[in-house]
Amino acid sequence: MTKKQIITIAGGGSTYTPGIIQAVLNNADRLPLSEIRLYDIDKQRNNDMYLIIRYMIEKEGLTDVTIVATETPEVAFTGCDFVFSQIRVGGMKMREKDEKIPLNHGLVGQETCGLGGFAYGMRSMSGLLEIVEFVQKFAPDAWILNYTNPESIISEAVRRKFPHIKMINACDMTISIEETIAVNYGYDRKNWIPTYYGLNHFGWYTNIYDKELKRDIMPEIIEKLKTQEMQVADFNEGDKTWQEAFQMMSVITKNFPTNIPNNYLEYYLYPDMVVEHTDLNYTRANMVMDGREKNTKEMAEKIRNGVKDDVLNFNFGEHGQYIVDMATSILNDERRRFMLIVPNQGAIPNLRFDAVVEVPAYVGATGVEPISLREPICDFHKGMMEAQVAAEKLLVDAFFEKSYQKALQAFTLNQTVPNARVAKKILDEMIIANKDYWPELR
Ligand code: NAD
Ligand code: G6P
Ligand code: MN
Repeated sequence: MTKKQIITIAGGGSTYTPGIIQAVLNNADRLPLSEIRLYDIDKQRNNDMYLIIRYMIEKEGLTDVTIVATETPEVAFTGCDFVFSQIRVGGMKMREKDEKIPLNHGLVGQETCGLGGFAYGMRSMSGLLEIVEFVQKFAPDAWILNYTNPESIISEAVRRKFPHIKMINACDMTISIEETIAVNYGYDRKNWIPTYYGLNHFGWYTNIYDKELKRDIMPEIIEKLKTQEMQVADFNEGDKTWQEAFQMMSVITKNFPTNIPNNYLEYYLYPDMVVEHTDLNYTRANMVMDGREKNTKEMAEKIRNGVKDDVLNFNFGEHGQYIVDMATSILNDERRRFMLIVPNQGAIPNLRFDAVVEVPAYVGATGVEPISLREPICDFHKGMMEAQVAAEKLLVDAFFEKSYQKALQAFTLNQTVPNARVAKKILDEMIIANKDYWPELR
């Protein structure tokens, strides 16, 4: 009988917490639970989430599961088995600046891509390294399953400081792309074995083997993408940003029909189109604050006011299930397959050995076993990736060395940036905007 698990959610107040807890509860047979701990630096948000999670657990009739909301690391992490990490250093207010500062200069302004992603990276590294230190101190045997963005930068930073860390970095985007393709074109994703390579939010499918159809269906999906744009699947229903993002997959595929692209490549291949479609005064951060954040506060408020029915209102698709599948894969040695963000070490044979890449991997009791590609990748993808990897590494250097020069090099090399002059202008504005979060650069 598996020991009942203690799960700590770092960033407990995150709007994604209810979706994750729902998946935990749905998988109680594979993930027996004794305690959920919500850890957050924002007491108000954490307490709101405590109410929502307690409501969910009471609805399920689970009287023996303890819920704790705390701002004290020792209480949050001591003796826990899994840490699900989803912090956002600086919150949506700083995300808004990440998006609007580059946009003001005519460049892509985005949460994880371009210079917004780099500014977020500089904030996020210190937050996540602190979480890792707490876990090392209070629960050294726990596994950290990380969703905190920007994932490639976080992963590079953590592995430099803690090379043997028990941490898995994962992104839900490939699963969301696959789900959207399956819903639009009439497939069952459960039959798929997809192969993919790239960096996080920067990659390509090479093959989608369908076990029922017994063939690679990527060529026919490419034909469909070229002629029939996708509609957002129900978990993103009515969401203009995601609708446009999935439409852009058709633009990319028409022009580069060798592979199915990750939708995030739009920021690197068609930054001009993206900027044209973005409202400078109302970016994604504004939409999320007026949508998910407000909605979460309302759910908590209803519970606080004693409302008993129709309180829960969320749909995060496969996001929660994906991280729960990772946990059960470790716990029960299930050896499921995921796309994971791992040190390259030859998985992509002709890409630098020390890059952080995203490739398929099996997960079991001993951790992650990445799958190596059988062939070298093409020069087009390799060239794009090498530049991006170098830029990310320079940013991580800048963080640890507190080096202005390295930060400027990173900003200049970022592929959404046309020249060093605008890179410097944006860097200098970001330094001021992030003065409470970034190390002081010299
Ligand atoms: P959010 O702002 O709603 O929630 C984040 C929470 O983290 C907040 O409650 C905040 O108070 C807390 N927090 C911030 N700094 C902290 C720290 N140092 N220690 C503890 N708690 C801290 O953000 P969100 O939209 O729910 O996203 C959360 C994170 O998950 C972000 O990093 C986001 O980019 C990431 N995310 C990743 C994926 C993926 O595929 N990898 C998918 C979705 C979201
Ligand atoms: C996808 C990506 C995440 C990203 C999120 C942003 O899930 O994989 O890495 O954080 O989208 O979504 P949002 O609704 O916050 O813009
Ligand atoms: Mn992601």
